[in-house]
Amino acid sequence: MKATNFYKIVIAFSFIFLAQQSFSAEEEKFDAVATYQSTCFACHGTGAAHSPEVGDQIEWEIRMEKGLDTLVQSTINGLNGIMPPRGLCADCSDDQLKAIVEFMLESSL
Ligand code: HEC
Repeated sequence: MKATNFYKIVIAFSFIFLAQQSFSAEEEKFDAVATYQSTCFACHGTGAAHSPEVGDQIEWEIRMEKGLDTLVQSTINGLNGIMPPRGLCADCSDDQLKAIVEFMLESSL
């Protein structure tokens, strides 16, 4: 193999490696609090549409009795036609929605 080809391959692999690095950094960059503020807060920060307000301990204690998984499922699928599916965050993954629900619970209980 010619040395120049070898370097081309090394450079190509470095790019793939760097691309993956920045991709995983992107994943970690997800900010549950900022996403909560920009999407869920409109309802859950104000009690709009009779949504359970973040900070209302009794409200969330009662909901927590269903278990975290059920609360996350309600977030993904929506609930009773008033909690919109994915809480209007169409770009959020299931795990990201779960992280936001955990933040909402931590802030309330
Ligand atoms: C348009 C207003 C609105 C937005 C936006 C919204 N919610 Fe809700 N959410 C509601 C309402 C209303 C309920 C209560 C539904 C009920 O109990 O019938 C609710 C309930 C919930 C519950 C409790 C589910 C259960 O099983 O009791 C969770 C968890 C939740 N929302 C998470 C979120 C998250 C996370 C976001 C943002 C990604 C979000 N919501 C955005 C209105 C909203």
